[in-house]
Amino acid sequence: MVISVVNQKGGVGKTTTAVNLAAGLSEAGKFVLLVDLDPQGNATSGLGVKHLELDKGLYHALIGSHRLHDVVNNTAHAGLRVAPATPDLAGANVELVNVEGRENKLSDILSEVKHAYDYIIIDCPPSLGILTLNGLVAADQILIPVQAEYYALEGLGQLLKTIDLVRDNIKPNLKVLGAVLTMFDSRNRLSEEVLHELYKYFPNNIFRSVIPRTVRLAEAPSFGKSIFHYEPHGKAARSYERLTREFLDRFENNN
Ligand SMILES: Nc1ncnc2c1ncn2[C@@H]1O[C@H](COP(=O)(O)OP(=O)(O)O)[C@@H](O)[C@H]1O
Ligand SMILES: [Mg+2]
Repeated sequence: MVISVVNQKGGVGKTTTAVNLAAGLSEAGKFVLLVDLDPQGNATSGLGVKHLELDKGLYHALIGSHRLHDVVNNTAHAGLRVAPATPDLAGANVELVNVEGRENKLSDILSEVKHAYDYIIIDCPPSLGILTLNGLVAADQILIPVQAEYYALEGLGQLLKTIDLVRDNIKPNLKVLGAVLTMFDSRNRLSEEVLHELYKYFPNNIFRSVIPRTVRLAEAPSFGKSIFHYEPHGKAARSYERLTREFLDRFENNN
């Protein structure tokens, strides 16, 4: 199962959610690959893999010079691997423009390793460019983090329209798994209003687990740790553990 974490807005909690959901799934005993599709490499470094020192990464698999399997790194979580972003990934935006089947590149290379993992989580960059398009086409389901700020709802219509286009033209089975509200501040009335507005976009599939705003989640990446290793018993870890459980319920509760 491949899940892309997508929102063309920057700073809404995509990477934080991709990293901690992937780590949460591995803590729950799943074998997980986190694919870092953002040239900034925050998901890679956030898991303690020094992306600036790597000589190969996802980029090299995308252009076909290496097998994906050969660029995957281990992390501090036993069941979690990362396909790292190196700075050259930024070049893929331009280099793929004239390549035939350019929107299928990630999907193609993931198909070789898909069977080996329980879940593949893709952290997408903050744009709707060719890299994110690859992230959408490669996915079975889309997870959309939404920051609990009023302006954060802007652009959701465009994102859902883009997903519809991909579904109509390339990937008929593409599904929106749902939206997850991030950086929620219960002292702020605005957070409640955003949640209310969000139901207009996602009447049936907002995750009940809401991620609170807490400085621990902002600190953890600078130590190269998921929240489960940085502060395993805090409320941030609990919130991502709840999200992980709710996520697993959606996929594995039908038996
Ligand atoms: N729940 C949260 N509480 C506090 N800070 C957060 C939270 N989620 C993310 N952050 C911080 O906000 C910034 C943007 O989050 P990030 O996950 O990188 O967003 P994106 O990947 O969408 O650009 C980062 O500095 C991150 O550490
Ligand atoms: Mg990010």
